[in-house]
Amino acid sequence: MPTRLPPSIVRALRPARHRGVCGVALVLAAVLLTTTAPLSRPNVAANGMAASPEPLATDVGVAILQAGGNAFDAAAAMQFALSVTYPTAGNIGGGGFMVGLTAEGETFALDFREEAPAAARTDMFVDADGQMLQGVSTDTHRGVGVPGSVDGMLALLDRYGTLARADILAPAIALARDGFTVSYALAGSLSRSERLRRFTTSVQAFGLADGPRMGDRLTQPELAATLEAIAQAGRDGFYRGRVADLIVADMRANGGLITHDDLAGYAARWREPLVFDHAQYQFITHPVPSSGGMTIAQTLGVLHLQALERAGYHSAKAISMVTEAQRLAFADRNFWLGDPEFFDVPVERLLSRDYTENRRRLLPQDGLAGQSSGVSHGPAESDETTHFTVADRWGNVAAITTTLNSGYGLGAVATGAGFLWNNQMDNFSVRPGVPNQYGMLGAEANSVQPGKRPLSSMTPTIVRRFGEFYMTMGSPGGPTIINTVLQIYLNVTVWDMDLQQAIDAPRVHHQWLPDRIDHEPFALSAETRAELERMGYELSERRSIGMAAGIQRTSEGFLAGYADRRGAGTARGY
Ligand code: DON
Repeated sequence: MPTRLPPSIVRALRPARHRGVCGVALVLAAVLLTTTAPLSRPNVAANGMAASPEPLATDVGVAILQAGGNAFDAAAAMQFALSVTYPTAGNIGGGGFMVGLTAEGETFALDFREEAPAAARTDMFVDADGQMLQGVSTDTHRGVGVPGSVDGMLALLDRYGTLARADILAPAIALARDGFTVSYALAGSLSRSERLRRFTTSVQAFGLADGPRMGDRLTQPELAATLEAIAQAGRDGFYRGRVADLIVADMRANGGLITHDDLAGYAARWREPLVFDHAQYQFITHPVPSSGGMTIAQTLGVLHLQALERAGYHSAKAISMVTEAQRLAFADRNFWLGDPEFFDVPVERLLSRDYTENRRRLLPQDGLAGQSSGVSHGPAESDETTHFTVADRWGNVAAITTTLNSGYGLGAVATGAGFLWNNQMDNFSVRPGVPNQYGMLGAEANSVQPGKRPLSSMTPTIVRRFGEFYMTMGSPGGPTIINTVLQIYLNVTVWDMDLQQAIDAPRVHHQWLPDRIDHEPFALSAETRAELERMGYELSERRSIGMAAGIQRTSEGFLAGYADRRGAGTARGY
């Protein structure tokens, strides 16, 4: 069956003809996409692959690749497209993290996490008695961090992109301006969102008064205008000028803190990726203020792989071994990790052999469950995010996890500017010892400070094997992200699954506190559950954990892309 590019994207690409060679290539890509049948399973391809939780955004990524763009061009175009077609997490009003691998073998990390406004204060979410002000960090404009996605994607294009900025934004602009057909998944998600209904700007933007229903056409003209401003003026189209004025007016009218100076001063940060070896594999993932890479490194550090293998897939013993390793790693995460510009995170020490040995000694030896109350951080010396990924024929790989924090973030569309606000300030530790919306406890390392970036669990990851790209993956899910990425890795490398099986396999999760094992339905057999309870573990069933996307290089050198069965996403290549 021929694949069809949505008419709105085709229309978006058509005017590009007037912009020279690149524009012509984009038109050709559109034509090719409407006429070329896939070579095999649609998610195995020779020349390029994109995977995301939303099919139109995946198609945008493939169109950019076919137009001659590289994985980084495609990833940026997908981020902008997701802000239109996947409003629960796709965004320009939020932030995220990226890791990349270039055709030349260079690895990089890009931190475009939101930042606390200059007027933020450590005690801004507690009352005079130090009690948490319920809902302020999640449900009001005070919880909005200075958005990083636009600067992040433009920084990526500046350094690694090959196509014109206007061509990267064209599909997203067309999808917002001309609209797209509302899917079953989007109609359901919008209709269930109480967060959106609290704000008239959101009710108007998404037509929530009487819809939208599956099959309706959703247009977002204000969002289209904001995206056009970015296409024309780059970062100044968002962080200065008309859009910045709209943002600041929206903040003033609603008690938010973001000023013109906050916007003008925001800059995404290039960071050294966190790279570590494990067996014959090499992890390339994001360093703090993303906690996922550190926590996975620490979990794997104390796990005895051969013993895990002997215990057997999802046996009580195997679940217990992984849980006990996670207990130790998450206890450290919640105490030691935060924005490295503000807190001296002891990265080397936490990953050192000595420290790992000392932590390993704390693992229970009696076959019974450990107790989180008895485990703390080691001594001295933070459900809706999205992950998408692209790999191209030259060997460039992009892995991006991006979020508004809660589903639809704060729930408020910025007045006049058409995009949804994040509520990322809730990822700070609002008060030591008080859990945030994910039940995560925090400490000084992650206290609110002006200009600081809140600790994250987002874990975009690339894995190399014997120096070659092997696979890439990531997921939404708050703190469950970390364990989702870890389990996908273990599923492939220990339990011999292909990446699709590894992504689809049911998951379990433990995060130190609350002291329990969450598991998806059918993740654990009745016998395993009974055995774990006998060992002293508290178990709790959760409908769903994570929604991953990934790409794996096949043994023949093709690219196989996967979107999690838990969502409505797609992987496509050419
Ligand atoms: O950065 C973080 O860790 C959170 N803001 C991620 C939120 C999330 O994954 C919600 N998704 N289901």
